[in-house]
Amino acid sequence: MMGKYPLLESLRGIGEGLRSKIKVAVEYEGSVLLHGETGVGKEVIARVIHGEREMEGEFIPVNCSSIPHSLIESELFGYEKGAFTGAHKNGKPGLIELAEGGTLFLDEVGDMPYGIQAKVLRVLEDMKVWRVGGVKGRSVNFRVICATNRDLKRLIEENMFREDLYYRIGGMEIYVPPLRERREYIEELIFCLLEEIDGEIKIEDKAMEALKSYHWPGNVRELKNLLKRIITEKRIEGGHTITIEDIPDEIRDGEKVPKTLKEKIEALKKEEIRKALKKHNGNKTKTAEELGLSRQGLLKMMKELGL
Ligand SMILES: Nc1ncnc2c1ncn2[C@@H]1O[C@H](COP(=O)(O)OP(=O)(O)O)[C@@H](O)[C@H]1O
Ligand SMILES: [Mg+2]
Repeated sequence: MMGKYPLLESLRGIGEGLRSKIKVAVEYEGSVLLHGETGVGKEVIARVIHGEREMEGEFIPVNCSSIPHSLIESELFGYEKGAFTGAHKNGKPGLIELAEGGTLFLDEVGDMPYGIQAKVLRVLEDMKVWRVGGVKGRSVNFRVICATNRDLKRLIEENMFREDLYYRIGGMEIYVPPLRERREYIEELIFCLLEEIDGEIKIEDKAMEALKSYHWPGNVRELKNLLKRIITEKRIEGGHTITIEDIPDEIRDGEKVPKTLKEKIEALKKEEIRKALKKHNGNKTKTAEELGLSRQGLLKMMKELGL
């Protein structure tokens, strides 16, 4: 029997805590900000929130990191006729206008060029959009959901992200944990993904155990791509079973769930070093500084941990 949130109920692979936060987000009037590593399912969740709200308009995704900076303004706000050479004769509505009555999904919002951020804030405050080259604002009505894998508070400190925009979009923040922090759901997720790819395919226990033990740096995206790859490469067809031999070595021998105290401490060290390296774009001096190590000490530790 389907309850009040059928789309959310059919979403597998997430914990009850996250599920209830998503319910709150469906009812929440303000903007929702999803944060978490890449591939954890932020866009999937944004689409579920949009779907459960039963809006008339569409879900319009905008990837702020992949649209070239020179185009982002006209893509978002649209332009009037004759706004620039090469423009459509009659002008063009922007993605914001296309989200009318629906949801504008600002993906990788932390990568939005600084200069555009003030303009986006303006639109969100006034609910009016000015096309490039336009003199008259048009009223708009849409909901906004944002996603980021970056630490926006840190970007604010570095003057890369506007604090006022952060307060406007971050009304309700939802953290989507990485897959390795919700291992208990990997199994149901695998069944659900296999169902999506080919409902007849089975998986043997050993193979399942290997997949459950891996650390999945690319999260659900990596898991889904791997299953697809195995199925295509091995030409596993309906009625067949994925076995441990089908699982690539790097995943079989990948990091296992730490059990002893020593393993747990090592795993924690690895995790913290990886995080700090990512934050400082691989800069070892800054990473060492943050972790309270000398550069030498960091290099030695990385070698010991096999990083
Ligand atoms: N809970 C889930 N159930 C099924 N598929 C999922 C789930 N979470 C993520 N995916 C799949 O994983 C991939 C990455 O998800 P996506 O929402 O794009 O992640 P993110 O936006 O966090 O990078 C997509 O192909 C998506 O369909
Ligand atoms: Mg994404």
